[in-house]
Amino acid sequence: MNSLALQDEPKAFPIPAGVFAETVTKVTHYTDRLFAFRMTRPAGFRFRSGEFVMIGLPNAEKPVFRAYSIASPAWDEELEFFSIKVPGGPLTEHLQKIAAGDTVLMRKKSTGTLVHDALVPGKRLFLFSTGTGIAPFASVIRDPETYDKFEEVYLTQTCREEAELAYGKALVAEIEADELMSEFAAGKLKLHSSATREGAARGERVTTLIETGKLYADLGISALDPATDRAMICGSMAMLRETESLLKARGFEEGANNKPGTYVVERSFVD
Ligand code: A2P
Repeated sequence: MNSLALQDEPKAFPIPAGVFAETVTKVTHYTDRLFAFRMTRPAGFRFRSGEFVMIGLPNAEKPVFRAYSIASPAWDEELEFFSIKVPGGPLTEHLQKIAAGDTVLMRKKSTGTLVHDALVPGKRLFLFSTGTGIAPFASVIRDPETYDKFEEVYLTQTCREEAELAYGKALVAEIEADELMSEFAAGKLKLHSSATREGAARGERVTTLIETGKLYADLGISALDPATDRAMICGSMAMLRETESLLKARGFEEGANNKPGTYVVERSFVD
């Protein structure tokens, strides 16, 4: 074997102590910037829908781990993730190349604030997302508990381009077509997606839609009201800040696991 062939061979690194090593079962690429993958779920691993974990690859002595929302619901026998591909990104540069059969590492503890426990009871649940911020909500909207707790569930996603909305649209279509899930979600779950820069259905940022009231007109509902409504927000730092200030101006109060409120935000993903 010459030295070039040796260099080309992927080096096998030992699995670090205290992490799960799981097998990828499916990879779906949505755009050149977005992909989702599913992998086996470790036996005995429990989490609450909406939480995140740290994931990495066995490609270094000390692998890079990043926070990823679990996009699958707590009852699913596999784990699903929805990821951006960052050019030159220490993890996603490699993660975007994974295929079925590859190994993904996962730290053992899940955590997060986009969970039912951090919200006081309410009638309508609003899930506001941009880009991959939809991931935790992909988990929440597939959890029957969501529909036990709320009469109406509104998921919004804003992306730059229409093609980036495909994951969310496919997900809601899948819920509607699924015999079991449609039983609890039918008539309660509504998706509002908008692409701000490109696409046939060019729309506006969710913040603008709230301010102008177009969101309510589009969905045929009354305006946000902390007496009946609860909200979860997941997106870029700018989107979080602005959506939060709109909610605060309407009387919403931030919740946490140890002190439930009328809205929650996940700050662990934003740079
Ligand atoms: P826009 O195209 O008007 O910037 P990004 O990729 O930059 O995170 O943006 C994802 C989506 O979030 C885009 O549709 C973008 O709209 C929107 N967005 C960016 N900043 C905000 C904000 N402060 N509030 C609401 N939406 C935002």
